Amino acid sequence: MFTESFKQAWHLRYGYEPEFDFPELGRFLGHRSVRKYADQPLTDELMSALVAAAQSAATSSNLQLWSVVTLQDKDRLATAAELCGNQEQVKSCGAFFCFIADHRRIKTAAETHGESVEGLEFAEFGIMAIIDAALAAERLVCAAEALGLGICYIGGLRNDPEAIKEFLNLPDGTLGCFGVTVGWPAEPMTAEIKPRLSQQSIWFKETYNSEPTFSEYDERMRAFYEGQKMKGEVTWSMRSARRLGLKHLGGRRILREWLQNQGLFRQ
Ligand SMILES: Cc1cc2nc3c(=O)[nH]c(=O)nc-3n(C[C@H](O)[C@H](O)[C@H](O)COP(=O)(O)O)c2cc1C
Repeated sequence: MFTESFKQAWHLRYGYEPEFDFPELGRFLGHRSVRKYADQPLTDELMSALVAAAQSAATSSNLQLWSVVTLQDKDRLATAAELCGNQEQVKSCGAFFCFIADHRRIKTAAETHGESVEGLEFAEFGIMAIIDAALAAERLVCAAEALGLGICYIGGLRNDPEAIKEFLNLPDGTLGCFGVTVGWPAEPMTAEIKPRLSQQSIWFKETYNSEPTFSEYDERMRAFYEGQKMKGEVTWSMRSARRLGLKHLGGRRILREWLQNQGLFRQ
């Protein structure tokens, strides 16, 4: 589905063509979020293959501190879309994968063997579970894109953690981290590769360089936003800065307290 070569995708990411080529990596550089899908659910076999890809991700100490809940029922997708902030792509995707940071299984395993579970309350274990969920999700995403499917991550799954807990029947010791909509892109596929910060901005050799640089990227993003006819402030730094205000946090303001009630990040 994503047809750009490595060099073409690089050009769209960074605004110039590289002198080298790694043709096999074209598909990895070609990612873009797809938010419009054909009305075609994913088959069970396909979902199973994608879950196998997700489970093939590395995982801290092989603890596998994550789970996934998939939704395909139209009514439940509509409810999920609403809970995630009225996001249309959740309603219309072929399957919605909700990634869960999950201490539940390991806690039961420890209790079965009469071992202490104190460690699970520490931030370290909360971070581990979230990293595991993210790595699994991204491997699922790479697999889906290799098959020509489109995806979109949905952080809106954290908009109302308590409602999502009830909706997905999540037990204590878990967090719905984010969702991933997956589906066959609607034709014609209009999603575009989005430019990224230059490598000099994010890649430091040997030690961190704490002088942030982004003005060159602001210019490239201005052109990208204008091409997309996006209204409002069109530099990346301004758009990003505005995301930091409290009004954008919405229901996610309560996450720390909510996580602690769930038994995560208590210490
Ligand atoms: C954890 C995470 C949460 C996201 N949540 C949403 C979301 O709720 N809705 C949405 O439309 N896009 C969401 N995105 C997609 C980002 O907006 C998108 O990846 C970013 O703008 C870069 O664009 P690209 O994916 O097309 O390269 C999310 C991405 C990530 C990684």
